[in-house]
Amino acid sequence: ETGCFTYDPGFTATASCRSAITYIDGDAGVLLYRGYPIEQLAKDSSFLEVAYLLMHGELPDKQAFTGFEHDVTHHTMLHEAFKGFLGGFRHDAHPMSMLVGMLGSMASFYHNDLDYDDPQQRRLAAIRLIAKLPTIAAACHRHSVGWPLRYPRNNLEYVDRFLHMMFEVPSGPLEMNPVAAKALDLLFILHADHEQNASTSTVRLVGSTGANPYACIAAGVAALWGPAHGGANEAVLKMLAEIGNAKHVQSAVDKAKDKESGFRLMGFGHRVYKNFDPRAKIIREMCHQVLEELGVDDPLLEVAMKLEEAALKDDYFVQRKLYPNVDFYSGIIYKALGIPTEMFTVMFAIARTAGWVAHWLEQQEDPEFKIGRPRQIYTGHDVRDYVAVDKR
Ligand code: SDX
Repeated sequence: ETGCFTYDPGFTATASCRSAITYIDGDAGVLLYRGYPIEQLAKDSSFLEVAYLLMHGELPDKQAFTGFEHDVTHHTMLHEAFKGFLGGFRHDAHPMSMLVGMLGSMASFYHNDLDYDDPQQRRLAAIRLIAKLPTIAAACHRHSVGWPLRYPRNNLEYVDRFLHMMFEVPSGPLEMNPVAAKALDLLFILHADHEQNASTSTVRLVGSTGANPYACIAAGVAALWGPAHGGANEAVLKMLAEIGNAKHVQSAVDKAKDKESGFRLMGFGHRVYKNFDPRAKIIREMCHQVLEELGVDDPLLEVAMKLEEAALKDDYFVQRKLYPNVDFYSGIIYKALGIPTEMFTVMFAIARTAGWVAHWLEQQEDPEFKIGRPRQIYTGHDVRDYVAVDKR
């Protein structure tokens, strides 16, 4: 109690909203998108079909998917003025800083012609974001490596189009790699949505003020950047590289148990999952398969496996139910696909845009939604009188 205010010491977080999009059971390690188990979607669906499912609530029939794919494909271009904006960033700017800026600026190119009270116009904004994220992401990467930008090719599918924009160079055509495209599509499915995580809650809070969807997604990208959230995949690779090889794994585990060190095992633990993150299980299996099919022998995979093995049999981690999460293995696959480490969280943002726009649409379509206004536990001074400066 602070004298003037009392609060329930059993204060617990309350649900921030109602949503029908994603269901998580953290104890059982269950993840459903619109009722469909992530394991089935990972095996049989595609990222674009999952994006449709998250937005519309149902899997599309052939005609609906063809129409959706056409709409996304025909909104991948960027206004030419983006080049000037992008050119203003230093070449060594972090791609996430460029992404936040580029997304926030989208409102100045696409916001003026839209009336968001019209469901069709809201859908168009969502389609634009899903379509343009890969174009912007690839442009940020090419700016940082000094390559000329590449325009989206409509004759390519979503992930192939992105890989082409990322890696095609003037000296010769990029050879499409079906293994890489399939692996990236699967990673995008696994990262597409995850209930009210920090970045999605941010998108909904900003959306609740009536801000335009580009501002909402820019805010979501900013929240995702943190190493406790989407930035963890980049931090995992740096951690594995610092550990270096399997014989240093135990000292890393011991250091993570020492609170004074401030060191945590990146890619371990979760606010909700107190069991294995189902996405981590899928990515873990995929990791071995993708590296084998690509003929990549990455010593960091062995470090990751030894680290996981050591942590999972250590009481500190077992008692706290700390398991590998979605970020633990994904970076090893991104690295095998030639994605630079600083682009890993950008990959996460491309995928999560499908979930973010689905939540924004769901919120905007809810007749009862109001502006978000979280409260607090006040821990400050009791009421007191002002004291003149010469009496302090
Ligand atoms: C994502 O919310 C989502 O859904 C997010 C996400 C999504 O799809 O949107 O799933 C994506 O963000 C996954 C999480 C990625 N972040 C990391 O991998 C960073 C490393 N992990 C953490 O810092 C941590 O586990 C969090 C941030 C994920 C959760 O932090 P909490 O809420 O503080 O963890 P907790 O309350 O469950 O901690 C319980 C205990 C604490 O110790 P005690 O105070 O009980 O002694 O476990 C310790 C923590 O210090 N702990 C860790 C640890 N994570 C928690 N100790 C060592 N290494 C870790 N990684």
